Amino acid sequence: MTVDAAMVTFSCKRQLSVPCTLTYPRGTCGLRPMAAQPGTSRVVGGTDAQAGAWPWIVSIQDPWRAGTGHICGGSLISPRWVLTAAHCFVKARHVNAWRVVIGATHLTQLGPDTQVRNIKRLVVHEDYSSVWERNDIALLELDQPVQCGYHVQLACVPDASLRVSELTNCYVSGWGSTMARAGGPTDVLQEAKVPLINVHLCNSSRWYAGAVHPHNLCAGYPWGGIDTCQGDSGGPLVCQDNNAEYFWLVGVTSWGRGCARAKRPGVYTSTQHFYDWILVQMGLLPAATAPPRPRPVATSTPLQRPPPTPAQAGSFTACPFPRQKLVEFFKLLQELLQVLWGKKAPATA
Ligand code: ARG
Repeated sequence: MTVDAAMVTFSCKRQLSVPCTLTYPRGTCGLRPMAAQPGTSRVVGGTDAQAGAWPWIVSIQDPWRAGTGHICGGSLISPRWVLTAAHCFVKARHVNAWRVVIGATHLTQLGPDTQVRNIKRLVVHEDYSSVWERNDIALLELDQPVQCGYHVQLACVPDASLRVSELTNCYVSGWGSTMARAGGPTDVLQEAKVPLINVHLCNSSRWYAGAVHPHNLCAGYPWGGIDTCQGDSGGPLVCQDNNAEYFWLVGVTSWGRGCARAKRPGVYTSTQHFYDWILVQMGLLPAATAPPRPRPVATSTPLQRPPPTPAQAGSFTACPFPRQKLVEFFKLLQELLQVLWGKKAPATA
């Protein structure tokens, strides 16, 4: 990410029909157990992220590349699947030997919270066009599922019912270049707050002049300065839900002209447009019988349905926070308090 920052939105999905959804049991996606209290972790233009701040982000690495081998970012959407950008694999060879690093902050100092997996299968969108960066989306199936915890959580993928353009608390993160013109990936994960930019404005003649696709989102600042950059591709653009704490994965970092330039914001693949495609690839929705789904709606269209939540259990595998750990922690805490209070049970708050 460049020192200039940008803004983004995320969204999580609601259940549509029984076997065909990417739904999550309540409270199992988009959560940031390690995030600082609101107000203490504000981003102003590309800053170091705290460990575990964006627990769904992964680093996709080619072991034949110098250094850490970092190529692209990605987001964990199930314990076995990572959502990323198709263009990361244009010249890729021997992808099965590539690494996916989950739960990391410093790429050169992978601590005990880090999990490393190999790629079992790469699924690039069948209509991906490298010329126009159309359908710049891909999925990676991991060789082994990851374990969720304080530093590893799933991102929530929104379906068409989420009104993404209404989300205002949006962030990008990645190990991409922090310099607009040069430089390789950074060691410490960077994060920045980036507002979503209206796609009509983003595609207007003085901006991207028609190069932005209907399935793209733009995020950043009209004057530039804060943005994703080379190496951030495939990584998450997330926005907090308007009524809850969790974050929605609304975009996949795709492209931009230069980095952090005025009127040239970051362009992201909108995940909600590819919701059904994602389900089909993950084997959660039969391809041939996929029923037509509502298209994402324009901002102005009022929806006669309840707001989306990463709600009821569906066929999408959850990645729950290790409950056992929490139970153990509270037991210990209780014992400690009992000792401190002379064997008396602590007062409940
Ligand atoms: N295509 C770049 C990559 O492969 C991401 C570029 C994002 N550019 C931008 N100006 N936001 O990492």
